[in-house]
Amino acid sequence: MKTKIWLSSPHMGTNEFSNIKEAFDTNWIAPLGPHVDGFEKDLASFLGEGMHVAALSSGTAALHLALIMLDVQAGDEVICQSMTFSASANPIAYQGAIPVFVDSEERTWNMSPDLLEIAIQDRLSKGKKPKAIIVVHLYGMPAEMDRIMEVANRYEIPVVEDAAEALGSSYKGRMLGTFGAMSILSFNGNKIITTSGGGALVSNNEAYIKQARFLATQARDAAPHYQHSHIGYNYRMSNICAAIGRGQMDVLPDRVQQRRANYTFYKEAFAELPVIQFPDEPTTDYYSNRWLSTVLIDDAKGVRREDIRLALETENIESRPLWKPMHLQPVFEGSPFYGDGTSERLFERGLCLPSGSNMTHEERERVATKIKACFKEVVV
Ligand SMILES: Cc1ncc(COP(=O)(O)O)c(C=O)c1O
Repeated sequence: MKTKIWLSSPHMGTNEFSNIKEAFDTNWIAPLGPHVDGFEKDLASFLGEGMHVAALSSGTAALHLALIMLDVQAGDEVICQSMTFSASANPIAYQGAIPVFVDSEERTWNMSPDLLEIAIQDRLSKGKKPKAIIVVHLYGMPAEMDRIMEVANRYEIPVVEDAAEALGSSYKGRMLGTFGAMSILSFNGNKIITTSGGGALVSNNEAYIKQARFLATQARDAAPHYQHSHIGYNYRMSNICAAIGRGQMDVLPDRVQQRRANYTFYKEAFAELPVIQFPDEPTTDYYSNRWLSTVLIDDAKGVRREDIRLALETENIESRPLWKPMHLQPVFEGSPFYGDGTSERLFERGLCLPSGSNMTHEERERVATKIKACFKEVVV
């Protein structure tokens, strides 16, 4: 059996281990601690724009806290991009609220500003004003933020940016994660940088971040005994995870370049195969970290996305279909959806290729050779 090529595996730098050792040496084996404070500062200065950051146990926890602070309650409606990972939508359900899904547009694969407006108008006509809009930057590609923010501001609905996959990406020179009233990041094992598991809430409104830290540490009121006037959560990041995160921040710019180099490699490797289409950045306003390199397969030529995925599997190479849209998921059956078929078409034809920043040139060649072999017999 050939060695496994993963879709996206953790890639440690040189400082993570010494940071962990320092935490052991000083016995900061706890939630909170100096590395948590340091990691929050590192992230805030990387993002710029006067951001404040709360380091948390996961991106999902960050999104949950964002919705709580936007006062999302049972029966409220929250608009969410349909084409995404389920963690973008699950916290809506944690609150007993109703997700209203909106389809993607072709250029970025992210929320269509036109369909967003149609959705808002229709919800308003039914007497329901959505409490928040969750927009996602899939695979690192920026959503069309100018138009999304313009629509959201016009209807006075706060935006929560799900930038779980998009740390290091930017739109019009501004880092993703700095546009929404609040934004979330993820550092789980497959992300562009990882703390093994973890996430962060980001906002330029310090009050939100202070409140998030309070809620994430069991909502303890200021008192010598345990006193609570709010429901709390155990959502804080540990000092050990933050020690890893600080080491990862040292190499984040390299990781972005390495992931972008994967995309360029695949694009050049398949230049002779027009049936394999690439989601290029629509204009120079869009800068993607290329967390995952993704392609669309024109199956009119006889080779389907699934044929390629299975062929790669026989070579011990992991690849994945694009995210299955939330409006097609059994768990969200019956939720309102505003769409034009775009995310369904993308899901049918799209494949995520191995994209780790630690992939060797030989590994990328192995992937490309196997995919090219799928088209050998077919006239493209
Ligand atoms: C788009 C998106 N949103 C949210 C999450 C949730 O992040 P976490 O796994 O840190 O909870 C992820 C990744 O897992 C994601 O890809």
